[in-house]
Amino acid sequence: MTVSIVGTGYVGLTTGAVLAAAGNKVYCIDVDAKKIETIQSGKSHFYEPGLDKLIAEGIKSKKLIPTTRYRNAIPYSDIAIICVGTPSKGDGSVDLSYIYSAGISIHQYMKDELVIAQKSTVPVGTGRKLERILRNGNKSKKFNVVSCPEFLAEGSAVFDTLNMDRIVVGGDSEKAKQKMITLLESIDKFSSKINTKELTKYSTVYKNKVIYHNKTPFKDRVISVGLESAELIKVTANAFLTTKISFANSIARICDQTGADILEVMEGVGRDERIGKAFLYAGLGWGGGCFPKDTAGLIYHADEVGFDFKILKAVVDLNNSQVLYVIRKVHKILGADLEGKKISVLGLSFKPGTSDVRISPSIRLVNNLIRKGAKVTVYDPKALQEAKADIDGSVHYANNVDEAVKGSELAILATDWPELVDIDFKKLKKIFKRPNLLDARNKWDKEQAIKFGYKYFGIGR
Ligand SMILES: NC(=O)c1ccc[n+]([C@@H]2O[C@H](COP(=O)([O-])OP(=O)(O)OC[C@H]3O[C@@H](n4cnc5c(N)ncnc54)[C@H](O)[C@@H]3O)[C@@H](O)[C@H]2O)c1
Repeated sequence: MTVSIVGTGYVGLTTGAVLAAAGNKVYCIDVDAKKIETIQSGKSHFYEPGLDKLIAEGIKSKKLIPTTRYRNAIPYSDIAIICVGTPSKGDGSVDLSYIYSAGISIHQYMKDELVIAQKSTVPVGTGRKLERILRNGNKSKKFNVVSCPEFLAEGSAVFDTLNMDRIVVGGDSEKAKQKMITLLESIDKFSSKINTKELTKYSTVYKNKVIYHNKTPFKDRVISVGLESAELIKVTANAFLTTKISFANSIARICDQTGADILEVMEGVGRDERIGKAFLYAGLGWGGGCFPKDTAGLIYHADEVGFDFKILKAVVDLNNSQVLYVIRKVHKILGADLEGKKISVLGLSFKPGTSDVRISPSIRLVNNLIRKGAKVTVYDPKALQEAKADIDGSVHYANNVDEAVKGSELAILATDWPELVDIDFKKLKKIFKRPNLLDARNKWDKEQAIKFGYKYFGIGR
């Protein structure tokens, strides 16, 4: 098929590159000329495992065509997939202006029978409103809006796109939904030919996914629903995942007061199939470009339809206090006055496997420590440059872990990149000023750390 992807960020570029690799002709449209230039040169404008290779191949084979011009792409497309940003406004509501503006541009240049697939995460009702806006434009044009929410996770985005555990498609027209399903099936057919091992190192759930993917035929993974249901599935899924994390963080606080170990507790709890282990991780809290805005958006929208979403409000409140909870631990370790104390923060991206620093709890932690007068050194394998704009004050940007912890009184694991988890405790011990470890992701080997003479502090352990 010939497809236009509108918005080539984390979702759009990954989807576009994978669709092109699967044999489709894919136009990637973005209003940001710099991003389009980078893609044209065969690279991604952000770090995502395996993505550069697919882009380079797509550009070479001319299956992937980056452009800033709708008119060069939309008239030739069977499907236009909207992947633009849906950021939060100050009051928690979702800014949908990019969606409507993209929709209007698509409508202007489209041929009849175009399927407009909406992949951005939006409040329920957005697809219907988009339909209304476009129908009020040129009434003679025929098109269908379908909702096809995206479930990829940054850090394993290419892998997730190749191994879709569910394909949710919502809309009124069975024909339009089927067109979208057929397009996505092209990825599924292609994915069996790909060795995904390299793409899975940052995925927390890849084994289960591969098993499920291999065992479950494509058609059984398709969930065909109404337009509104599809939109609500996506925000509900994200709200539920944040609830699991905040729940684990709440139990961790009880562990801290009682001597229970959160890892042991959640192992025992998560083995219950009704609960599941995934996302029951205590740590620094959740962040990123999706969870914070999607929970805020759902709370706001629930309010609009007359429901006070108290559970989700509590989940957000708990998360907002999580970095401060970790700061209280820093004080317990180093005392009330942090002025001039050297602290190393390892990891700045909001999760491992990505250079994305949007609403990163690690950066909030760094900014708090700076305000308290600590001498902060930071290191991240991929996100150092990206973090600079969000760090409010002076820090030392280290080039590796050794440089980061040299002379340090405390190292904090803030993002669980494998290279930051698998540090050489024995070697590093010699270069610390005081060997204190605060494991804000509960990923360091506590026994090993203690064995090599460190003081170890975790979250709920
Ligand atoms: N990032 C994720 O992990 C993820 C996962 C699932 C769903 N989502 C959802 O997908 C959507 C996109 O997220 P993202 O992280 O890729 O965002 P992003 O900010 O990385 O990318 C959005 C892109 O859209 C472009 N854009 C804005 N207006 C445009 C227009 N009118 N025409 C063409 N391009 C335009 C921007 O320049 C930008 O490159 C959001 O709704 C997000 O909630 C994101």
